[in-house]
Amino acid sequence: MNALDLSRLRPRLPSPLEPVADERFARHGLTLLLKRDDLIHPDLPGNKWRKLALNLREAAGRPVLTFGGAYSNHLRATAAAGRLLGFPTVGVVRGDELAGRPLNPSLARCAADGMRLEFVDRATYRAKNDPATVAALLERAPAGAYVVPEGGSNALAVRGCVELGRELAGRADVAAVACGTGGTLAGLAAGFEGRTLGVPVLKGGFLGGEVRALQEAAFGGPRGDWSLDERFHGGGYARVPPVLTEFAQNFEARHGLAIERLYVAKMLYGLMILADEGAFAPGTRIAAVVTGAPEGTA
Ligand SMILES: Cc1ncc(COP(=O)(O)O)c(C=O)c1O
Repeated sequence: MNALDLSRLRPRLPSPLEPVADERFARHGLTLLLKRDDLIHPDLPGNKWRKLALNLREAAGRPVLTFGGAYSNHLRATAAAGRLLGFPTVGVVRGDELAGRPLNPSLARCAADGMRLEFVDRATYRAKNDPATVAALLERAPAGAYVVPEGGSNALAVRGCVELGRELAGRADVAAVACGTGGTLAGLAAGFEGRTLGVPVLKGGFLGGEVRALQEAAFGGPRGDWSLDERFHGGGYARVPPVLTEFAQNFEARHGLAIERLYVAKMLYGLMILADEGAFAPGTRIAAVVTGAPEGTA
């Protein structure tokens, strides 16, 4: 199969925009809409499709080398793309201590999809954008490999997310998205005419600078009306405090939709708190981007 021709994978685009009747929003005069990017493709759900599409076109069938943690959704999506489109993949995984252990389900999926896993120590992983580190990794990779950074976020990924914002034109006033690297937010905000709200799932307050740098790389300067609310990381990456679990279970029971916990639940929880705080004027239509599906459901 030709790696240039991603349309053969039949992505569901534009993704559906579904209203959800939720009294915790309705009582403030707000409409909550779910932008179902999780339905774009079963193996490349959510922002994975949008971020990988232009990169894979650029790679044009060459091997793809990329980076992630032991539970990285991005590594899984890249491995699946390699299997579906027929190009080799290498996953550089943080933590050389993992090398001698049985693979967790996420990495086992990557390996089953044909991804070559290369475990590196944390210092090497931290230096993953360093040209010398990348050169050393490329030497061990199949010839001519195309490098995609951690989380898949580069200028092409950001440009790939612009369409997400455009799909919401005239249909929502506020778009909300959970942020890891900020790549999805950077593109979404550039394509959306309304206000974009980012909910970082990592602690640290560094994301604003990252989003600005990604927009600079993708568009040559700032784009869109975006802001971050740093209060909803729940203690940091992959931390899911009981209040968040309770919220997600309640949302699932109300709406019959399984909610991914590490990103999507944090964003929805943040929206609910903001609604209670009166952050949105009555009449506001809020599109919450469902950037991923819980593991095993996509
Ligand atoms: C389900 C899900 N939502 C949101 C994000 C955040 O995307 P970004 O890194 O572009 O901010 C990720 C990151 O990979 C993710 O897996």
